[in-house]
Amino acid sequence: MKHILVAGGAGGVGEAIVRALLDAGHRIVVPSRSAARLERLRNDVAADRQRSDRLITITGDIGTIGGAQAIRDRIARDVGRLDVLIPSLGGWWEGGLLDATPAVWDIVMDEMVRTHYVFAHVFVPVIRAQPEGGRYIGIGGGAAYHPIRNSSLVSIAGAAQLMLTRALRQEIPEDAVDVLELVVDGPVRTRDSEHLAGPDWLAAAEVGRIVVELVAHGRTEDPSTRTSGPIVRMRPRERGQGVT
Ligand SMILES: NC(=O)c1ccc[n+]([C@@H]2O[C@H](COP(=O)([O-])OP(=O)(O)OC[C@H]3O[C@@H](n4cnc5c(N)ncnc54)[C@H](OP(=O)(O)O)[C@@H]3O)[C@@H](O)[C@H]2O)c1
Repeated sequence: MKHILVAGGAGGVGEAIVRALLDAGHRIVVPSRSAARLERLRNDVAADRQRSDRLITITGDIGTIGGAQAIRDRIARDVGRLDVLIPSLGGWWEGGLLDATPAVWDIVMDEMVRTHYVFAHVFVPVIRAQPEGGRYIGIGGGAAYHPIRNSSLVSIAGAAQLMLTRALRQEIPEDAVDVLELVVDGPVRTRDSEHLAGPDWLAAAEVGRIVVELVAHGRTEDPSTRTSGPIVRMRPRERGQGVT
């Protein structure tokens, strides 16, 4: 059983990751700014006592240095150690690049890039200081590789977030922290996007399944993925390949 911090675990993709990791027997810590979202998460993924005991929820803001440090200190007190860090932080935005105001730019960069920087800044030193090290698995989107029409700010931020993970990998010895990125290439059917989802959307449970393998082995040979260095990329599903 590993102790795993899933930042953004109360979000759409994060919820599926938390569910899969609980099913695999791990102990999971999930912070959120919203106590209501944490309560919904607990009801959705940990209704039984056996899972509920392994889900630790913390109300707090992991997007600020002070908030992240408070969460770090609470984990040190109540959990003791962390083996794996999984930032599943982000959001979405629609609009033309040149129509985005500076305020909108700041919001998107804050949600999709600054949160990852703050998370790495506060939590990577925690596992780096442990003699046995640990693993970091960033969660990102395929938008990092190509501009999404009418959502190009998401692509710009996604590319920066992917580079953050690659830079971390370069700077930190692999035996101290094994830094990986799971790029989820294509929209994901989550509990919140269910009503919008097309048949070609990836299922959130598929993302959870890959994360369980990465936690266990640091790699996957799942045919829905391809790996290039530290980057594991889930292939977008072709139209007509959907599962119901
Ligand atoms: N959804 C998709 O279709 C899809 C597809 C491909 C890749 N992805 C990737 O999956 C990851 C998660 O996306 P998602 O769709 O699950 O997003 P989501 O449902 O909006 O959840 C994102 C999480 O990020 C946290 N967050 C956002 N801004 C924050 C801030 N300023 N300060 C602190 N926390 C903040 C939120 O925490 P609170 O609980 O505190 O609100 C929330 O739990 C992203 O990297 C995204 O690129 C998603």
